[in-house]
Amino acid sequence: MSIAMREAGAAAPASRDFVFSWLGEGDMATAIETVGVLGCGLMGSGIAQVCATAGYRTIVREVDAVLLEQGLARIGTFLDAGVAKGKVAVEGRDRTLANLSGTTSFDALGECDLVVEAITENLEAKRATYAGLEPVMKDHTILLSNTSSLCITELAAATRRPDRFGGLHFFNPVPVMKLVEVIRGLATSDATYQAAFAFAQSLGKEPITAPDRPGFIVNRLLVPYLLDAVRAYERGLGSLEDIDKGLTLGCGYPMGPFTLLDFVGLDTVYSIANIMWEELREPAFAPPPLLKRMVLAGHLGRKSGRGFYSYL
Ligand code: 3HC
Repeated sequence: MSIAMREAGAAAPASRDFVFSWLGEGDMATAIETVGVLGCGLMGSGIAQVCATAGYRTIVREVDAVLLEQGLARIGTFLDAGVAKGKVAVEGRDRTLANLSGTTSFDALGECDLVVEAITENLEAKRATYAGLEPVMKDHTILLSNTSSLCITELAAATRRPDRFGGLHFFNPVPVMKLVEVIRGLATSDATYQAAFAFAQSLGKEPITAPDRPGFIVNRLLVPYLLDAVRAYERGLGSLEDIDKGLTLGCGYPMGPFTLLDFVGLDTVYSIANIMWEELREPAFAPPPLLKRMVLAGHLGRKSGRGFYSYL
């Protein structure tokens, strides 16, 4: 079943089993009913999917219709695969799709109570997106970034509402991975942090609180491990296959480091490493020469058809 791009604003059958509220300004209980997602790439589409599955009316925005259609199609494919595997009920898939709509404008996001931003990892692009969104946002609306590496306090400072801004970091593949990191910047209010935490729980995720430091908790530990694997491979430790096999069969990791690098995207890991290296200046975070060259060559992993392994 494919998803036709439904115009945002069209009536979405409400099928939420669940509404929660948090104490907003002036002790007014405010329910989150409509969720916006900025970006419908790999992460944004996954986030939109889990929000719609949890029963939220979900409006996802992309910069153009082609990217939007691709992202919505990805959701349809994932849900269809879930049905085929017996993991998703047909009614559940249909309910999720009914809760979803797409848009290329900011205006449609004006009705959202909470917005998750999952656009490209570029400070300027995020600033421009926030500037487009803010004029239409309701006063109580919370804005959360899915950034994996940028500073939450710095992103918050790019908005006019730093107290209602925080980090909500999902993991790939979003519908499958249980973890969400909740990050508060220096200006994030208690109410915003609590709402973000409760929102993650409402999606069926297991939130943890992470500090606003480069890499938060998971990437702070995962990225040096991946970089070290590349360095070790460069120095002839073993073949890609043997190193991957060693870590999967020897340690029970679901993927070896090179399979995981290809899965996450070499450009993503390179970008996170650069940010951590720039701020912390610890050798463990310095991107290895091979990783840099593979990114420069466009060997980005699964998404480009070639990384450490070939997917062509
Ligand atoms: N719909 C619903 N559920 C689905 C599904 C679908 N379309 N596809 C898969 N699933 C479920 C399966 O049913 C299964 O659930 P179960 O354990 O309850 O049976 C689970 O997902 C695993 O799926 P599969 O068995 O089909 O596939 P694999 O066993 O090959 O697992 C994987 C795939 C989940 C991707 C696994 O290889 C894995 O966990 N890899 C590591 C992923 C990882 O580390 N992600 C984090 C990356 S870092 C990151 O994202 C941070 C960023 O900032 C860089």
